[in-house]
Amino acid sequence: MSGETGAPRHTDLRGHTIVVIDDSEAVRTAFEVLLSLHGARVLGAAAPVAGLALLEREPADLVIQDMNFHREATSGTEGVALFRQLRARFPQLPVILLTAWTHLETAVELVREGAADYIAKPWDDARLLTSVRNLLDLRRARREAETLRGHRRDARAALAARFDLRGIVYESEALHTLVAMATQVAHADVPVLITGPNGAGKEVLADIVQANSERADRPYFKVNLGALPNELMEAELFGTEAGAFTGARARAGRFEAADGGTLFLDELATLAGSSQAKLLRVLQTGEFERLGSNTTRRARVRVIAATNTNLRQAIRDGTFREDLFYRVNVIELEVPPLAERREDILPLARHFLEPGFELSTAATDALVRYPWPGNVRELQNTIRRACLLSASRVIEAATLNLSAAASAERAEPELDRPAVEQALARAGGVIAHAARDLGLSRQALYRRMEKLGLKADAPRPTPGA
Ligand SMILES: Nc1ncnc2c1ncn2[C@@H]1O[C@H](COP(=O)(O)OP(=O)(O)OP(=O)(O)O)[C@@H](O)[C@H]1O
Ligand SMILES: [Mg+2]
Repeated sequence: MSGETGAPRHTDLRGHTIVVIDDSEAVRTAFEVLLSLHGARVLGAAAPVAGLALLEREPADLVIQDMNFHREATSGTEGVALFRQLRARFPQLPVILLTAWTHLETAVELVREGAADYIAKPWDDARLLTSVRNLLDLRRARREAETLRGHRRDARAALAARFDLRGIVYESEALHTLVAMATQVAHADVPVLITGPNGAGKEVLADIVQANSERADRPYFKVNLGALPNELMEAELFGTEAGAFTGARARAGRFEAADGGTLFLDELATLAGSSQAKLLRVLQTGEFERLGSNTTRRARVRVIAATNTNLRQAIRDGTFREDLFYRVNVIELEVPPLAERREDILPLARHFLEPGFELSTAATDALVRYPWPGNVRELQNTIRRACLLSASRVIEAATLNLSAAASAERAEPELDRPAVEQALARAGGVIAHAARDLGLSRQALYRRMEKLGLKADAPRPTPGA
C-alpha cells in the first residue's frame, strides 16, 4: 500500500510517534512504510495487551487500532474493549479505528464515545494521511494552548501572591499585563492616569495602585469631578473658609484631608477650566488655598485620575489643558473594553453570580457573544438581575435578556444641539440637573455633549446649590 518507492520523502509527520495495534503483520508493515515515509516514528503491537503495555512505555501522539484481533473474530468486541481502555488510560490520545466496511455502525458508536476517526479497510492512503495530519495538528494546537494557559495561571498566581489585587477577576492576557503594570507603578510616587470606557474597571485598577503603594495605609479619598457644579467641586477639593460663599462653613477639602495619602479623581475631563488651573498648581507645587482664604496651604498627595474621555482630543478641542494632561499622565493605564477581552466575560459572570446559581450552556454562549457596551458594570447588573428573576438555580439565556438590554442602550433619545443647550441653560450649567431634565444619565449627557462639541464649562452659580 506504500507503492511510492522513489517518491520524495515527506517530513510533515516528523517528531510524532504513532502506535499501530493490529494482529496482521502485513497491515502493521503497510502503516509503518506509509507513515515513516512522512517522517513519523511508527511502533506496532499485535494484540491489545501488548499495545497497552507499549503505550505505557512509549508516549505516543496517535493510535491506529484494529477492531478484531483473531483471524475468526468479526464481532469487534475486542476492539471496543481496547478502545475503552485506551480512553480510560490516555484520555487525550487520539484513536483512529480500523474497521471492516461491514461493521461501520460500531465505529460510528465509538466516535460518539470519543474516537477521533474511523477508516474502513482496505483504506485509502491519501484519506488516512489527511486524517492523521489533522489529528496531530489539532493535538499540537491543544497542547500549545494548554501550556500557554498553564503559564498564564502561574504568572497570575505569582502576581496575586506578591501583591494585593483587590479581588480583581480576569483571565485575559491584556488584563494580566495591565494589572502587573499597575502593581509596578504603584511604588513610584507619581501621578497615574487611568483611561477606558464606562464600567470597564478603572476604579478597580486605581484601588490596586493605591493598595500596593507606600501610601497604602494613609488616607485614600475618591472624588467624582463630574458630580458637582464647579464651585462646589472646588470647595470639595480645596476646602472653604467660613463665608466663602453663602452658607459656607470653614472646612478642609480633600487635598488637605488626603495629605500624605492618595486622591482618586474620577471623570477628570469634566473639570472646568478654572479648576483645571488650580489642580495643576497643587500637582506642581503642593500648594493651594481654601476658597475664600488667602492663606496658602500645602499637601503632599498622590493623584490617581480616571477618565473615559479621549483627553488628547479634548486638548485639541480646547476643553482640557495640555500642561495638566502631562502632569497627570506620567503613567497611563488603559483599560480595554470588555468586548476586546472576551476571555474575562465568563470568569466575571461566575464571580457575580449569587451563591448556588449557575449558568446554562446557552446562557454562557449568549454572554460570550454579547458586545457589552456597558462593560463589566453592565455584566454585573445583568447577572444580578438574572439571579433575582430566575425561576430556577440554572440561569437560562432568556433570563439574561441581553438583546433587550442592547436595544435599550441604542434607544437613548435623539437630541440635537439646541435641545441640549437649552437644557443646560435651564439647569444653570449643572450637568446633573440638565441630565435629569433630559431623561439621561449624567454619563450619557456627557457623551452627547462630546458628540455635539459642547463644553462642560464653568456653570453659573446656582442659588441654594
Ligand atoms: N476585573 C474585575 N473584577 C471584578 N470586578 C470588576 C472588574 N472590573 C470591574 N469590576 C466591577 O464592575 C463595576 C464597574 O467597575 P469600575 O467602577 O471600576 O469601572 P469604571 O471604569 O470606573 O466605570 P465608570 O467609567 O463608569 O466610572 C464595579 O462594581 C467593579 O467592582
Ligand atoms: Mg469609575
